[in-house]
Amino acid sequence: MSQYLIGQSPRLSGEVSISTSKNAVLPILAAALLTHEEIIIHQVPNLTDTCHMAEILKVCGAEVSFCQGDMRIRALSIGSPKENSLLRTMRASVLVLGPLAARTGECELSMPGGCAIGQRPIDLHLKGLQKLGAKVELDGGIARVSGGLKGANIYLDFPSVGATENLIMAAALAKGVTRIENAAKEPEITDLCHFLTAMGARIAGAGTNNIIIEGVEHLHGAEYTPIPDRIEAGTLACAAALTDGSVLLSGARSDHMRALLFKLSEAGVICQEDEKGLRLRGKARHPMEARTLSYPGFPTDMQAPLMVVATQTHGLSVFLETIFENRFMHVVELKRLGAQIRVEGQLALIHGGKMLTGASVTATDLRAAAALLLAGLVAQGETRVSDPDGHLVRGYESLEEKLRALGAHAQKLPDIQ
Ligand code: EPZ
Repeated sequence: MSQYLIGQSPRLSGEVSISTSKNAVLPILAAALLTHEEIIIHQVPNLTDTCHMAEILKVCGAEVSFCQGDMRIRALSIGSPKENSLLRTMRASVLVLGPLAARTGECELSMPGGCAIGQRPIDLHLKGLQKLGAKVELDGGIARVSGGLKGANIYLDFPSVGATENLIMAAALAKGVTRIENAAKEPEITDLCHFLTAMGARIAGAGTNNIIIEGVEHLHGAEYTPIPDRIEAGTLACAAALTDGSVLLSGARSDHMRALLFKLSEAGVICQEDEKGLRLRGKARHPMEARTLSYPGFPTDMQAPLMVVATQTHGLSVFLETIFENRFMHVVELKRLGAQIRVEGQLALIHGGKMLTGASVTATDLRAAAALLLAGLVAQGETRVSDPDGHLVRGYESLEEKLRALGAHAQKLPDIQ
């Protein structure tokens, strides 16, 4: 069990470097299965999720080494991952479906389970693979995909990030041309397309709703450094906005963060891009309205961290969560700290301006964990964040150390077995 002790903190100030994006690295690691040649990915963040994805690639038969941020993968002879608990616990394991189906003509995968924030179905992934000619069978929690893949026109009922990524990877080796309409446009998908192109894939329309992939016979090895993590950067930006800070997020790509930066600017924070990254100055003082949407709309992963900022502005903020069915679990814990929030279905009404008081709270999911650390920065006294399932380290590389480097009173207590 991990625990974090967060004290009421002074204005954050100074510079901190942004890690490479978890949500870019995970599909890129899965894409390494598409070639037998060596793949080297630089600056891979040391997270539970990236380590688990490395384990899943090994279970598929790939050789994987991870040293000082460089992950080397060589998928000489690969096959479906045998029964492995990781496949059920780690959602992103579904991303090996497309590459395995494309490379070996078949894949048998334990259906990844849901998680705290929602059911997380994979129907769009499977429907798209069927459109590419694969035979898809579901049998007691196991998905079996078989048959050669041929280019096709696919329409996604919802711009699913994971389904878009899986289908781009599958189409890269399919015979013929594939068009994916209503595709997701997240920067992590554009990054995956850049990586696949470096491997010799033929892709047009990355970052738009219409992506065209011309299948090729083989893909070759490549070396690549993925984009910075816009959600880690956004989380640290919220920490600065909470404490009236003056912070430089070096390496941050503000062009990937427009929706959040507009919200923080509306609330009164000065956000400035410069050659080193993103500078934030001042405190968020005005209430906000936020509706989570697919990119370039306001990101659902930033909903919990920004809600903490809203608790400290003066007035009523209104948040609408449209992406996941159960992504307000941080509200109960924030109310334990004294926040005045009312949830009505997918709507959260935040009556801001009330001082928070430190207490013991529990992390329920990855972004909720980050939100609770942020809340501790402004709560009077001490806040103890228990994280029994290790959510925070799934997606943040030493967040408490980065906060401390900016002057926060934040420490991780020794894990309790
Ligand atoms: C990715 O998840 C991210 N994870 C999530 O980040 C992020 O919140 C999400 O995209 C939305 O931006 C990674 O990239 C590893 P989706 P993904 O498929 O691909 C429904 C974090 O905190 N849906 O776009 O699973 C689904 O139920 C994580 O870093 C279907 O109905 O997201 C959800 O309601 C959390 N059928 C919505 O679409 C499907 O086949 C969005 O899902 C697929 C999805």
